[in-house]
Amino acid sequence: MNKKVITVVLVIAIIIVIVVGGFLLFGSSRNVGIDNNIKNQDDKVGKTTLDSDKVLVVYFSETGNTQKLAQEIYEQVGGDFRRIEPVKAYPTGQELFDYTKEERDNNERPKFKDLNINLDDYDYIFVGYPMWWYTLPMIMYTFFDTYDFAGKTIIPFNTHEGSGDGGTYETIKEFEPDATVLDGLPIRGGDMSSDQTETVKEWLKGLGFDESN
Ligand SMILES: Cc1cc2nc3c(=O)[nH]c(=O)nc-3n(C[C@H](O)[C@H](O)[C@H](O)COP(=O)(O)O)c2cc1C
Repeated sequence: MNKKVITVVLVIAIIIVIVVGGFLLFGSSRNVGIDNNIKNQDDKVGKTTLDSDKVLVVYFSETGNTQKLAQEIYEQVGGDFRRIEPVKAYPTGQELFDYTKEERDNNERPKFKDLNINLDDYDYIFVGYPMWWYTLPMIMYTFFDTYDFAGKTIIPFNTHEGSGDGGTYETIKEFEPDATVLDGLPIRGGDMSSDQTETVKEWLKGLGFDESN
């Protein structure tokens, strides 16, 4: 092997170690923790030009980072707010990694509790989730299988520990070819311990949802 090939192989190996190590090492420890006091809600008036009567913010979160991001988005856009909760609770700690890897490898569709929504009521659906094993958690696959998003606008957001959106926004476009999928917002889970109000505001502005006067 010549020097160039060895260098390329080494660089690729280092990138893999950083991404995989990043979420294994920090993913489980750098989280804000789920807050069970944050309840589903209806009819919040938003602070943007979006018509909040037509907005749903829905999210899945296991260790709280995505919940915190969802809550910030909800503060700004209003509408209805729902948490996707598994019928069968996930294990914690290292077991969560093993369990969810198997779930993904088996292409499972874990059930979630009734969200008490009628999708016909909404035009804009903000959908949030953490990155799990380089893709959406399988419960999000169940979510997209469950509803018909034709004609709706989906606005994805996610938290992660190195993968960014990992191509999941494209995956959502493939799931929902008859929906409009806008540019999503990926944020590092570790960054959710600090205030993300401005980041969310700028992102919404970039999508054309300015602050209302
Ligand atoms: C089972 C599991 C798998 C994960 N896989 C990835 C991954 O592939 N890429 C990544 O960047 N982060 C990964 N992470 C880190 C999470 O995406 C990150 O900690 C996220 O903020 C957790 O969100 P939550 O607190 O809303 O559950 C993983 C975490 C867990 C628990």
